[in-house]
Amino acid sequence: MVRLAPSILSADFASLGDDITTVTPQADWLHVDVMDGHFVPNLTIGPPVVKSIRHHTRLPLDCHLMMTNPGEYLGSFREAGADRCSVHVEVGDTAKLCAQMRDLGLGVGLAVNPETPFEAVEPWLGHIDLLLVMTVHPGFGGQRFMAEVVPKVAAARAAIAAGGHDVLIEVDGGIDAETVGEVARAGAEVFVAGNAIFGHDDPVAAAAELRRVAEAATA
Ligand code: DX5
Ligand code: ZN
Repeated sequence: MVRLAPSILSADFASLGDDITTVTPQADWLHVDVMDGHFVPNLTIGPPVVKSIRHHTRLPLDCHLMMTNPGEYLGSFREAGADRCSVHVEVGDTAKLCAQMRDLGLGVGLAVNPETPFEAVEPWLGHIDLLLVMTVHPGFGGQRFMAEVVPKVAAARAAIAAGGHDVLIEVDGGIDAETVGEVARAGAEVFVAGNAIFGHDDPVAAAAELRRVAEAATA
């Protein structure tokens, strides 16, 4: 089953509620990119914005925490209304962070950067609900998809099947109508897209086209 998660990073923050309403007919989740200016060289938003969005939509809020110290904020994100969070494997403390997310009632996500090998996340497949495979270097929207990451998606799909794990594979970065088919065939099921949706004159039509291509690739 294909799930689309529009990334609000590419929305207009001055009309965020309207932009969310616009994409809702084609959105399964909303992807919320939290950047701390430290783990990545960019700053975005935090729990207060998640709280405002929560009052505006029933869509599951999928919070991608590009932060050095996510453990200090997980409770705030949960209180604000996040449904699931993904922390980066590169920050370490993975066992503790996964347990913390589980205890808070959050969906447990683990994100992995393009240069980090699959072996870094493999031991955690039995402990998580979502593996977020970055297909760009995190930090900015609108970057070019890194096709060299596709084998990692395929390796994750094979390991999840072999281990009988219940883990969704999400891909994030440079996903558009040209690239979505390749990652869908490799085993991704949740597709984050910012620029390809909100950068389009007709965001709903763009999202519908992404869904159509992803579904066709896996039919
Ligand atoms: C990048 C973010 C992505 C970003 C994707 O660091 O994690 O979620 O919004 O944007 P596009 O789809 O434009 O590459
Ligand atoms: Zn993201």
